[in-house]
Amino acid sequence: MSDLQVVILTHTLPETWIASLQGKCQLATGPLDATFLAPELEARLPEAEGLFCLLTIPVREALLEKAPRLRVISNMAVGYDNIDVATCTQRGIPVGNTPGVLTEGTADLTMALLLSVARNLPAASQDAREGRWKTWSPAGWLGADLNGATLGIIGMGKIGQAVAQRARGFGMRIVYTDEVERPTLKLERLSLDELLQTSDFVSLHVPLTPQTRHLIDEKTLGMMKRTARLINAARGPIVDSLALYQALKNGQIAGAGLDVTDPEPLPPDHPLYSLPNCLIVPHIGSATMNTRRQMAELACENLLAGLENRRLPNCVNPEVYKA
Ligand code: DGY
Repeated sequence: MSDLQVVILTHTLPETWIASLQGKCQLATGPLDATFLAPELEARLPEAEGLFCLLTIPVREALLEKAPRLRVISNMAVGYDNIDVATCTQRGIPVGNTPGVLTEGTADLTMALLLSVARNLPAASQDAREGRWKTWSPAGWLGADLNGATLGIIGMGKIGQAVAQRARGFGMRIVYTDEVERPTLKLERLSLDELLQTSDFVSLHVPLTPQTRHLIDEKTLGMMKRTARLINAARGPIVDSLALYQALKNGQIAGAGLDVTDPEPLPPDHPLYSLPNCLIVPHIGSATMNTRRQMAELACENLLAGLENRRLPNCVNPEVYKA
């Protein structure tokens, strides 16, 4: 029987990514593709002192009540909307996340979606595969230019800024909306309405909060240009999926590129899949070998700090230390 602290690791991860935990705690590990907390892990909650989880695991009051010894929660993600942070703070539990390391990867994927929907790549590729490529077609598969187009970035944090940096290289004009003015960027800050009305591409980079849930709905989609394209590599519920489906189907907007959806995963029979102007990928913004390894390593650092009663290097509820 080990006297090391018990840590619940909700999913199996490559051993090299979590090597720093070796010999420091006793891991109870869940399966690779778990979509909920495995029952054998739930049974260990009463003895758990650490929880290392992914963004797909809801950490709410019911779970926390079963884990009275919990001293740290480490989320292997920058977003933490899966966690009831306020309740964690009340219980004195610091919550860690992994900012910074996934900025560039997520910005790259955002640009990949933007380019793909600008140039109709999914439909064009399908037409080529399925025999509809008869000749070089002067008026076929026409897309939109990036050069000279306006990109509206909603949420100018680290990822929004990394997207802006890339988009500038494509000759785009960049505007943004954000809670705060960011004078050093020397970019035009607009109201949300102005941004929606004037942008050729709209890219979402805000966290999911009660305020941003369904920020993009029937009303805001209705403000966008009919030629505009929407990119979401932030969180699915920021967009009302049904309203987006209607807007794409009715030509209210020209296209969408989604790395995230609501619900997630999007069921295979969801109507959004039936639209040729909607590109959907399975939440892979941070999915590069290097990025995911760094996310895991940072999550391990947070976890170990919590277990050792040190301040987490990346803590989303620093007020927990005031108590
Ligand atoms: C995050 O870290 O929040 C991302 O969504 C993972 O890709």
